Amino acid sequence: MRSASAPRRLPEALSPTASAVIAAAGSGERLGAGGPKAFVELAGRPLVQWSLEAFALAESIGPVVVAVPPGSERELGVGVAVVAGGEQRSQSVAAALEEIDTELVAVHDAARPLVTPELIDELVAKLASRPDAAGVIAAAPLTDTVKRAREPRPPKGEIARGGPTVAQTVSRDHLWSAQTPQVFRAADLRKALDTDPQRIAAATDEAMLVEKAGGKVLIHPSPAENLKVTTELDLRVAELLLTQRTRPEGRRPGC
Ligand code: CTP
Ligand code: MG
Repeated sequence: MRSASAPRRLPEALSPTASAVIAAAGSGERLGAGGPKAFVELAGRPLVQWSLEAFALAESIGPVVVAVPPGSERELGVGVAVVAGGEQRSQSVAAALEEIDTELVAVHDAARPLVTPELIDELVAKLASRPDAAGVIAAAPLTDTVKRAREPRPPKGEIARGGPTVAQTVSRDHLWSAQTPQVFRAADLRKALDTDPQRIAAATDEAMLVEKAGGKVLIHPSPAENLKVTTELDLRVAELLLTQRTRPEGRRPGC
């Protein structure tokens, strides 16, 4: 925590304060918890609160806007604005972006509760120091061996009956798994979001839209621990990691 007597020294590049947009308006179908994923309990609090805490502690972040499922609007804390999200993820981001008036904006998925204030500040500082770039994304180097198949991936369930054939093994040298936070110049993100509905629907992150619009997007290496909660297994892993993180140092279960 900050104290008045010993302020944390910030790099010069951090001085333009960024805002944050948290996308929390998904239905959480693959998790199957029977309600919106953002409000599922994780290590003692709603999933979205873990991200909100990290953004509250990040020195580079000012206002925070959260997009939640329409009808699920609720108080999420001091200094946190809440808006109704859209059908597609990028529409939720666009709705929240309307409340933002800073030059830089950090977009984050509520589904990544292990994000840290340090990662957020690093991303903002990197973009602030690179006027040539439209955005910077957190990403982890790919660790799996990657195969390209001859055929497109079949629908779930059909894979057991034969399945595709390997065409080639793809070199991992240039491959990264994109995560959030993703920090953008708000003007570039607004321009990128002003596109046709098909492109919006196909976008699995905002960087994809900014890239398509011609913006340069930088990669900032981030640990795989900044995982996305999609399934029940992810929720259990996240619970374990967050419980370890919050446990007083040196204590072991049962000690
Ligand atoms: N999201 C959003 N608005 C949407 C869809 C998704 O704000 N219309 C958010 C989710 O709340 C989540 C993030 O985007 O924090 C990543 O999406 P995903 O992990 O796919 O979450 P859900 O869409 O909720 O899950 P599912 O696809 O399993 O239904
Ligand atoms: Mg989804």
